[in-house]
Amino acid sequence: MTDLFDFKPRKLLYAVFGNPISHSKSPMVHALFAKQFGINLEYRAVQIDVGGFEQAVSAFQASGGNGINVTIPFKFNAYRLVDRLSERAAAAGAVNTIVFDEVISGDNTDGIGLVTDIETNCGIQLKGRNILIAGAGGAARGILSPILDRNPLAATVANRTKDRALDLAREFSRFGEISGCGLDEVSGRSYDIVINATSTELTGALPAVSPHVFENAELAYDLMYGAERTLFMKWGQKNGARMVSDGLGMLVEQAAESFLIWHGQKPETGSVIEAVRQKLRWVTIWLICRSFARRGMRLIGIFWIPIRWFLLRWPKRRTSPFTWNSKISRWLKASRYAAPSMQCEDLAPISKKEA
Ligand code: ATR
Repeated sequence: MTDLFDFKPRKLLYAVFGNPISHSKSPMVHALFAKQFGINLEYRAVQIDVGGFEQAVSAFQASGGNGINVTIPFKFNAYRLVDRLSERAAAAGAVNTIVFDEVISGDNTDGIGLVTDIETNCGIQLKGRNILIAGAGGAARGILSPILDRNPLAATVANRTKDRALDLAREFSRFGEISGCGLDEVSGRSYDIVINATSTELTGALPAVSPHVFENAELAYDLMYGAERTLFMKWGQKNGARMVSDGLGMLVEQAAESFLIWHGQKPETGSVIEAVRQKLRWVTIWLICRSFARRGMRLIGIFWIPIRWFLLRWPKRRTSPFTWNSKISRWLKASRYAAPSMQCEDLAPISKKEA
């Protein structure tokens, strides 16, 4: 039974469900947002076993959870689970934000997060622009309807598997001017904005699209992000794109939209993007130091027997091994280690008489 005189405001409980999830920056982002408004909340990153999503959502709701963000690979599970879908979640065929009200509602803030990042943070309007989107998987599907809502001149989806691009273009043609083609069919055309929605960065590759697509591009935008510039950003810049961006701004902007849905207030995002970027850099530095330390320990392990032999022998040596053969070592040997020598000739011979 609850205490009638406990007037402490209750902590609101949120979580992001995914697999893997340890890398998630969402707990940090939502904690920084909550601080801006003095909201008392707890936001956890929860790794869910594949096949256990529905059960985990019920358990979280039963334990008083207020809302869930959903990430890879459960966005489609969430889409099927919710009772009510927003228009943009229905269009994307995926849910990344769940709200528990009288019913369970699902929304998708990925696309609006991207559009806000491009228009507000990069300062480039989508209206009237010619846009190329490389990739036709889940990431591309999630951003198409908010992009087409901004009335671009045209959007082209180019994919390694051409049929997927054609299917996606057909499905989204009710939202605006869109076409699909293979990655190798885009050369010779000029684009204002080139967006990478493929997963090539994960394998250290690039989508096999002509580098000429960047020649007149105002922006090359990669949905991926990291501490360093992505391969796609470097490639776009090298081939003429005037501005490049990774998807960190999109991550924070989609979280801000989720925050707005849950709390009715839109947080300031610029300082949060900067804070997450700093954290990414520190994590990278820490990982590099850790790997050096591990390598050092491994080397000590491999050479432990000679090192041990050397350490045990060393005190018995009369001279430092690092200065062998040098004049200094010889001088040190003479002055510091050698016992003050007395030559026999210096002593007056003891006569038998004195003795
Ligand atoms: P996500 O949900 O992250 O979009 P996905 O649905 O598996 O993941 O889609 C990955 C996208 O990256 C697809 O468009 C895929 O192209 P295919 O449809 O031809 O598989 C694209 N992709 C992955 N590796 C690629 C590569 N090496 N070159 C070009 N495109 C690649």
